[in-house]
Amino acid sequence: MQRQLISIPLVALLAIASGCNPQPDAAAAVKHAGVALSANVNNFKPSATLQEIMLSVIDPNVDPIWNSISTEVSAEGAIEKRPETDEDWATLRNHAVSLREVSNLLVIEGRAVAHSHANTSSHESELQAHAIQELIATQWPEFIQRAHALHDAANLAVEAIDEKNVDRLEEVGGIIEHACESCHSQFWYPGDKVPVN
Ligand code: HEC
Repeated sequence: MQRQLISIPLVALLAIASGCNPQPDAAAAVKHAGVALSANVNNFKPSATLQEIMLSVIDPNVDPIWNSISTEVSAEGAIEKRPETDEDWATLRNHAVSLREVSNLLVIEGRAVAHSHANTSSHESELQAHAIQELIATQWPEFIQRAHALHDAANLAVEAIDEKNVDRLEEVGGIIEHACESCHSQFWYPGDKVPVN
C-alpha cells in the first residue's frame, strides 16, 4: 500500500524530466536547475582561480613557516632566527593549519586555473592555463594525490609546531617544498627535467 502512495509523485516527476510537459518555460527551468545543481553539487562556490589560491592563500601561509628558521652569517657572526615565544608558535600554527586546509581548495571540481587575462608562463617550460587545465582534467586522480601530499606535509608541520620542535619543523619545511614541487613538475612545467618523486 505504501509503495503505491510513493509511486504517484514519482510518475509525475518522470513525466516532467522526460519532457512530457508541454510548457517550454517549465522545461527550461528544469534544465537550468539541473545545470545549477551540478555546478554546486557539493555546495561549493569556487571563485578564485588556482593561480589566485597559489598567490593569495598558499604563499602567504607557507612563507612564514619557511622563514621561521634561518641562519644569517655576517661579519659579527651567525644570527640564528628561531620561533621562541608562545606567540611565535601560535602564529606559526595558524599558518600551518591554514596551509593544511587550503589543500582541500585545490580539489574542488570546476575551478579555473587562471583568469583569461592572466599569464601562468614566465618561462618557456611553464605551460599556459589551457594546457594546465587539460592536464589536470586528464590526470585528475594524480592531481588529487598531489594535493593530499601537501595536506599531509602541512599536517607534519602542525605536529612539529605542537611539539615546539625546531629541528623537525625545519625538516618538514623540506617535505612541504617537495609536495609543492611534485605537483608543479607534473602539472605546471612537465617538460622540465625536475625529478617528479
Ligand atoms: C596539487 C597541485 C599543486 C600543489 C600541491 C601546489 N601547487 Fe602551486 N601551482 C600549481 C599549478 C597547476 C600551478 C600553475 C598555474 C599557476 O601559474 O598558478 C601553480 C603555480 C604556483 C605559483 C605561481 C603562480 C603564478 O604566478 O602563476 C606559485 C607561487 C605556487 N604555485 C606556489 C606553491 C607553493 C608554495 C606550494 C606548496 C606549499 C604549491 N604551490 C603547491 C599546482 C600546485
